[in-house]
Amino acid sequence: MSPLDLVPVTTTDELSLSSIIGALSYALDLTEGLPAGHSLRCCWIGMHVGQQLGMDSEAQSHLYYTLLLKDAGCSSNAARLFELYGTDDRLVKRDFKLVDTDSLARLGRFVMSHTGVGKTLHERVNRILNLARNGEQFATELITTRCERGANIALQLGFDEQVANGIRCLDEHWNGRGKPARLDGHAIPMNARIALLSQVVEVFHSAEGCEQVLDEVRKRAGSWFDPEVVDAFLLASRQPGFWEGMRNEGLQLRIEQIEPASKVIRIDEDRLDTIAEAFAQVVDAKSNFTYGHSARVATYTSVVAKTLGLSEERSRWLRRGALLHDIGKLGVSNAVLDKPGRLEADEWERVKAHAAYSEQILGRMAIFSELAGIAAAHHERLDGKGYPRGLTADQISIETRIITVADIFDAITAERPYRGAIPVAESIAMMEKERGTAIDGDCLDALKRSLPELGF
Ligand SMILES: [Fe+2]
Ligand SMILES: [Fe+2]
Repeated sequence: MSPLDLVPVTTTDELSLSSIIGALSYALDLTEGLPAGHSLRCCWIGMHVGQQLGMDSEAQSHLYYTLLLKDAGCSSNAARLFELYGTDDRLVKRDFKLVDTDSLARLGRFVMSHTGVGKTLHERVNRILNLARNGEQFATELITTRCERGANIALQLGFDEQVANGIRCLDEHWNGRGKPARLDGHAIPMNARIALLSQVVEVFHSAEGCEQVLDEVRKRAGSWFDPEVVDAFLLASRQPGFWEGMRNEGLQLRIEQIEPASKVIRIDEDRLDTIAEAFAQVVDAKSNFTYGHSARVATYTSVVAKTLGLSEERSRWLRRGALLHDIGKLGVSNAVLDKPGRLEADEWERVKAHAAYSEQILGRMAIFSELAGIAAAHHERLDGKGYPRGLTADQISIETRIITVADIFDAITAERPYRGAIPVAESIAMMEKERGTAIDGDCLDALKRSLPELGF
């Protein structure tokens, strides 16, 4: 599975909320193991359904962001999913979306084929038995975590309850057999009903093509899907240009253009901070090993930047880069991120890829174009032995060096599931050994001077 099938970035120059959320939705696709552009295509599908249903512009605006952010909580259950299945979480997530869970036979086949892949027979059998006995409870737990988390992220981003509730109820089914609340019929918010159908349409379209989509949608009308939403979709699907609109070229721009014109939200510096903070939480939720990491690196970065004399404005700008420096980790399986022991060479390569993914994701946004390179270079070293590019000292900016010192400091001092926190004095001594090779001396001195302000 290729994490990023990158397509050319074409966006409007104006700083609208839709352009930023649209670009960041690629990070959510990565976490779900789905083809790049999944969330954007869901938005395309769902907005056509909303128009067929005669939604007014206010309702369409809520639908628009429900569709783009339906997977905002997706990283929060990745670690648990991996713990239960023992298989690459991104693969499990991707393939599960093709399963009609109303069919016990299909569900059973999925569990058999996706549990403990590559593990011993003994371990596979134990895991399968555990899932067979407790599957219902586990599924409710996984979906509750994901839905609640996603809804909270939407609220934190400043969206209304209509958006949050659409995300919260994404996995409820028309027949009442969905999760987590087993809502049925009209008790399920319309945005959630449309988002679920859009999701199924997109995954079947990407995996199997148009014909299979129409079969699957008709088959699930009245069970998973509201029949009225199905009818609206079938009408929309016959409109000229509907299927062509799903192609990758120019997708992001097309999605920006279908935002209800009267509801386009322009954003300012404060909203940009809020967005970076919210997506940092999405990143940090991916693994128990990195809980709170991005937020702490951001705090250390902004204090060190000010200690070094960077302006208030530049420090604030750099803090956003620190918040999002590891966003590419969303594209790395928890099978690697959560592995307690030593990583094999190929696993290490998969971890290292996160830095390049960060650059690609952030680089999709014109507003982050400079920051993308600066933040994504946080594993480069002054001696040229870092990654992803193996840059040398003269190619590594002071801003990157600040994030690097903050990142390393947190990596050493933070408590991990497998070890306690390393005391600050010992951490600084360890960092001193890397002075001039991995760590910039001035940045390290600034960090040391900043320790009291940071509460150490
Ligand atoms: Fe990193
Ligand atoms: Fe990091």
